Amino acid sequence: MGKKIKIETELEVFDSVSDLSPDIKNLMNKAHEARENAYAPYSSFRVGAAIALQSGVIVTGNNQENAAFPSGLCAERVAAFHAGSNYPGETFLAIALSARSEKHPTVTPIPPCGACRQSLAEYEVNQDSPIAVYFMGESGKVVKSKSVKDLLPLIFDSSYL
Ligand code: THU
Repeated sequence: MGKKIKIETELEVFDSVSDLSPDIKNLMNKAHEARENAYAPYSSFRVGAAIALQSGVIVTGNNQENAAFPSGLCAERVAAFHAGSNYPGETFLAIALSARSEKHPTVTPIPPCGACRQSLAEYEVNQDSPIAVYFMGESGKVVKSKSVKDLLPLIFDSSYL
């Protein structure tokens, strides 16, 4: 029999945005605002992302869909790639994510998809400091992961190449 390895991850759950620090509450508000500008005519599922850079700048993004479905992009990557291209080398302190479906109430926290976790991991590994991830629906509880690593154990990074 092989050796079993257990991977532990820790998340923190807040009952609502009012339990967040003022800075993170502000970041989440930016994610809510960005979410409403999403281009999501096909899924009717709007996602907003707001990244706090070390300099104090907040970069936002939202999902951008496309008639050729796979050509669209998630909110997290729109924001991260904007930050990476316009503020190269700047540390990402935290990212806040907000999601709302136009079809039903979105009151449970919506985690980032696997591809977005992998994309965010690239920045976390390179900057060598954790990026806190906060995610929620349109209202309700907020989940905090203190790093991307906690959401994506066994990150594939450039050290394997
Ligand atoms: N979406 C995001 O923007 N982020 C995620 O992490 C999950 C999914 C978007 C992609 C698509 O436009 C819509 O939500 C439905 O999947």
